[in-house]
Amino acid sequence: MTHLADDRPRFVLDGRRIPFTPGQTIMDAALAAGVYIPHLCHKPGFAPHGSCRVCVVRANGRELSACTAPATADLEVESETDDIRALRVAVLQMLFAEGNHVCPACEASGDCALQAVAYHCGMLTPRFPQRFPRRAVDASHPDVILDHNRCILCELCVRASRDHDRKAVFAVSGRGIASRLIVDAPSGTLGDTDFSIDDLAAHVCPVGAILPRGQAFRVPIGKRRYDRAPISAVGDVAAPQAVEPEAQEVEP
Ligand code: SF4
Ligand code: FES
Repeated sequence: MTHLADDRPRFVLDGRRIPFTPGQTIMDAALAAGVYIPHLCHKPGFAPHGSCRVCVVRANGRELSACTAPATADLEVESETDDIRALRVAVLQMLFAEGNHVCPACEASGDCALQAVAYHCGMLTPRFPQRFPRRAVDASHPDVILDHNRCILCELCVRASRDHDRKAVFAVSGRGIASRLIVDAPSGTLGDTDFSIDDLAAHVCPVGAILPRGQAFRVPIGKRRYDRAPISAVGDVAAPQAVEPEAQEVEP
């Protein structure tokens, strides 16, 4: 039996040579090679977004987001170095300070990528003053709760609803610190949209902001996805209703 050589170009990531197909990002190629780079707003099968900055790496001396930077053969990328880890921890500490993330009281605990990435990156303490913003919990939908306190504005629900469900239920309004998730209804509440529990957008939230009702403790705390294995090992679990996007990058 003959083996075809993998003659794809490669870049160096923390000393490992990572093959890539032209057009792939550093993130795509790393994940395909089984190398985890922390991320929150990136999800295989979704168009890159580049908003959370958790995937920061240093490539040829410049900090950039691995989920949007194209892989090229001349790259020397650092990801798991002490100073890049410290940058990620600072980004995570800002995310935790900006919203109301109360892990011990959150029903997504153990299934939350923000919490799991913080564990992975070794974030142990808060650092910035907690903002404690006053945000709404939208319980208007019969099947789903939308808790704005936990939203990290990753726009995965926006992309899922627009690009996969073809509904555009969600959008982000405002800029900077005033940014917020809105829904497409005159009342501004989810119950007045055509959002459905069967939409992909109902199952992509990496935190506990979009939660199906009545399933909170179906899997007990301690036995959930990231309780059983670290996020670096579990990776991106496809949502149950995941469908292939049309004309978008899909991780090989
Ligand atoms: Fe991201 Fe969830 Fe907020 Fe949507 S509700 S933007 S999926 S954190
Ligand atoms: Fe790259 Fe969010 S995962 S910016």
